[in-house]
Amino acid sequence: MQPFPATQKRLILVCTSQKNLEDPTLCGNCGGLELHAQLKEYVNQKGLGKTIRVVKSGCLDYCGKGPIVSIQPENEWYNRVTREDLKKIQEKWVDTIQH
Ligand code: FES
Repeated sequence: MQPFPATQKRLILVCTSQKNLEDPTLCGNCGGLELHAQLKEYVNQKGLGKTIRVVKSGCLDYCGKGPIVSIQPENEWYNRVTREDLKKIQEKWVDTIQH
């Protein structure tokens, strides 16, 4: 195993867990999947798909507070993210990144 320099400058994790389709407290059942799709499309439209990786994550252990979005490596976390919130996340974490 060897460390290597990542090509991405930022990872954005969006919890999309649906380990139980009947459980509305899971992020994938309360909007996480839609947020992931919207954010990924936004990043790709900006031509930043290789710079910012938008990743579907499994459960991040904040069930009931979702959807959860985590920004790495800055380690900033957001809970109960709405479509309106996503615009703010895009402005802060996508629009400002250097290519
Ligand atoms: S399902 Fe998203 S934090 Fe658990």
